[in-house]
Parts: sequence; structure tokens; C-alpha cells
Amino acid sequence: MNSTSATILPRPLALDASASALRPDRIHVTGGTPLTGEVTLRGAKNLVPKAMVAALLGSGPSRLRNVPQISDVHIVTGLLEAHGVTVRTGEVRDELVLDPTSVDKADHAEIAAHAGESRIPILLCGPLLHRIGHAFIPDLGGCRIGDRPIDFHLDALRAFGAVVDKRADGLHLEAPQRLRGTKITLPYPSVGSTEQVLLTAVLAEGVTELRNAATEPEIVDLIAILQKMGAIISVLDNRVIHITGVDRLEGYTHRALPDRLEAASWACAALATGGDILVSGAQQGSMMTFLNVFRRVGGAFEVDDTPGAAGIRFWHPGGALKTLALETDVHPGFQTDWQQPLVVALTQAQGLSIVHETVYEKRLGFTNALVSMGAQVQLYRECLGGTPCRFGQRNFMHSAVISGPTKLHAAELEIPDLRAGFSYLIAALAAQGTSTVHGISLINRGYEDFAFKLGALGARFEFGENAVD
Ligand code: EPU
Repeated sequence: MNSTSATILPRPLALDASASALRPDRIHVTGGTPLTGEVTLRGAKNLVPKAMVAALLGSGPSRLRNVPQISDVHIVTGLLEAHGVTVRTGEVRDELVLDPTSVDKADHAEIAAHAGESRIPILLCGPLLHRIGHAFIPDLGGCRIGDRPIDFHLDALRAFGAVVDKRADGLHLEAPQRLRGTKITLPYPSVGSTEQVLLTAVLAEGVTELRNAATEPEIVDLIAILQKMGAIISVLDNRVIHITGVDRLEGYTHRALPDRLEAASWACAALATGGDILVSGAQQGSMMTFLNVFRRVGGAFEVDDTPGAAGIRFWHPGGALKTLALETDVHPGFQTDWQQPLVVALTQAQGLSIVHETVYEKRLGFTNALVSMGAQVQLYRECLGGTPCRFGQRNFMHSAVISGPTKLHAAELEIPDLRAGFSYLIAALAAQGTSTVHGISLINRGYEDFAFKLGALGARFEFGENAVD
């Protein structure tokens, strides 16, 4: 196991996907070494692709900074290029310049080639309807963590006046006339649907009132971008957002907020392996709910908010970890994307922990693999938290009881989704022996240079034989 040093290479420039494309799709991880050192966060995976879509609304080029080298960025780049947007790297490191000035039609064949890769295409609807009067959206992809319907998106688009035609090859949308502002109440504070409404309302005629909106920090950053472009958006109390449509938006220059979901993943890796990781770029403000939970389970952290050197150091202070009862929720609750890495750390806590997943109905399925490593995790259909959720009456295994501490042993693991993938790496690093984790290209969707970072933290691993997927 000597490949660690070989993986510590200079990071490629933005848009260079070739390095990861050539890597094998499996990794052998030898556990037992506490992860120690420093990693640097880049822009948030759940903001950057949406910010790229927002560039379509501008009448001039936009500059997006702090862009991570992840496959979701490459996918959206391809999609935007299929619509005529010019995407190139800027003069500043990690900057993308997106120029939509030549967008006048959609190349359906090229767009269809992106079917199944990501859920981002659905967000192109509003901007394309404003820009060229129609949109074609092929079948969506994204992590398989539940049904992930798009009914809220389509209902909202219809309310703006779009005509939606579902055909075998995907969705065809038309705007017979300029879209009009409207009143929308989301059945659930969905992140994507809130973004859909924002990206559509900013150029619609008149005022849009959105109720029951999601307010995740990534959405607030998207609103900041739209405001820079010339949009008029007010975020009111009680999940209400007002958007006054304008006739024209300009390009923007923006630095994407750092990825708080990645930050929490590294924090959990420190906790589960008994390590100590400084996550440079992590911000306290967007992670308060996570930090409370991290402290309650026995983790230690220290916030450094010195300008230019900000970050949060996470470590295991020794002694037994504590159990807790936890429910995932929309912001400002405990994010569902933090749940999976934390569950791995909870396998090392003393006693019974309860996790109630209320955002995605199938996001606890990944625990089967942890059980194969020796963890004791029992799944339940009932809502085991204090609050009944949408899934309680619907036969989904969405609550977990985790009994610890358990010694984890090596296993063969197949990654089902992005966050589960990173969680399997954490579990393998906490386990005795060498695990093989298959499907690591899924991790590249949201974790920039995860192998480089693991190597820098002293993890022992090597890639499998060069089986390009
Ligand atoms: N929902 C519907 N109908 C809709 C839209 C959503 O029923 O039309 C339901 C979903 O099935 C789910 C719930 O509403 O049960 C919340 O879904 P939401 O729309 O909030 O999720 P999303 O926009 O598809 C984003 C992130 C996810 C993150 C969720 C929740 C991106 C690209 N994805 O998904 O990120 O878990 O918000 O915060 O921003 C991840 O990073 O690993 C990830 C999956």
C-alpha cells in the first residue's frame, strides 16, 4: 500500500476532467490510521451548477469564482455549451467565464446525450423559456436516494404560463408569451423547486410570491448572484420570498460560498477515525446546526475566522463518543446530506442512537453496507423522531437505530449515491483491514480531488486496476 504519495499531485485546472476520467473506478482502503492534517474547501456543489445556469439569464458574460473540479460542473458545462453558451476558464484560478450572448436555439441531440447525468437540467427551464421561448429537458439523473419527482417544478412553471408536454424523450416546454409573475405555495420547502421559481420569476412580468420556500445558504447565495445581475428579490419571514420581475439582467461576478456539506464530511471522517482535520474555508454561520450535533456526540471543534485564513478544525478529543436522537430536516435543521457521514461516526458511539430521515425516503439504505462491516444498524418504517414526517404512513425504511460502539472490519462496498460513497470511505478508513470501494466516480460528482485530500491526511489507499468506466 504505497500509492498515497503518488496521489499527491498538483490539482488540475478547472474544466480538466481527463485526470479523473482515467482513474480506475474502485479504490482499496486500509483502515486504522487517524486522518490528520488540512483540507481546503472549494465552492459548494449545491450552488455552483445553479450559478452556472443563472448565467443564462444575463445579457453579458458572467464570472464565477471558487469553482470546484467536480463532475457536476463538467456536466452542466456540457449542457450549457449544447445551448450555445461559451464556457471557458478565466484568468483567476478556479474561475469560469460563462458567455450566453450567442444562445438562440437548443441542440436537442446534444442535450439528449446528457440524459440521466444530473438533476440540474430541470433548472434550465425558466432561463431557456425567457431566452428562446422553449426548452427540452431529457430524463434526469442524480443520486438514487428516493423517487425524486419534479411535480413541484412543473406546477410552478405552469403557474408562470409555461406549457409542458411530457414526451418519451423528455419534457418539451413552450412559453407562448412572456411568463407572468404568480403566487406559488410549495407543498414542501424543496431546494430545487425554490431555485426553479427564483430563476424563472426574475425575468417574468410582475411580482411573484413564493411561500414555503427553502432557505438553504446555497439558495441565499443564488439570490445574491441574481441580485448582482439586477434582480429584485426580498426574503421575508416564514419562508416567504417576493420577486419583482425585471426586463433585463446583466452578467455577474461572484465567488461561490464554500461547501458546508463537504466540510461536515471531513469533520465526520476526523471523528470516526480518531483524527484531527483543519477544514480550511469552512464557515461557522452555515454550519451551526451541524456544529451543535458534532459537539453533542463528543467531537471537538475550533473556529478560526481570521480573514484570509478562516476555517474550522475538527477533532476527536479522546474517550467514548456519545449517542443522540436526530432528525434530518430542511435548513435551518440538520441537513440530510450530513446524515450519512455522521451515521458512520455514530457506529463508534457508546449506546443507542436514533436517526429519523425526513427529507429522502430511501437515504438510509446505505447502512446495509455498514452492517456488512460489523455495524449494528436496524432500520424501521416508523417515524422514530419526535415529529411524524411525510414518510411515516408510506412503508419506507426511514428511521435507524444504531448500536455502538462496534469494531468495523473490511468489506467489499458498492457506492449507491454521492454522500453514501464518501461515508463508505470513512467507514473503510475506520475499519480494520483493507476494504474495496467500487463506483468511486460517483464521489467525484461532489468532492473535488477527494483522493488528493485523503492522501494529504495520511489515509492509506490505492486505486484498483485501471478499469475505466
Ligand atoms: N420533492 C417532490 N417534488 C418535487 C421536488 C422535490 O416531491 O418536485 C421532494 C423530494 O422527493 C424530496 C424533497 O422534496 O423528498 C426535497 O427535495 P429537494 O427538491 O429539496 O431536493 P433537490 O433540490 O433535488 C438538493 C440537493 C441535494 C440535497 C437536497 C436537500 C442539489 C443538486 N441537490 O436536491 O443534494 O440533499 O437539495 O437539501 O442541490 C447531495 O448533495 O448529496 C444531494 C443529494
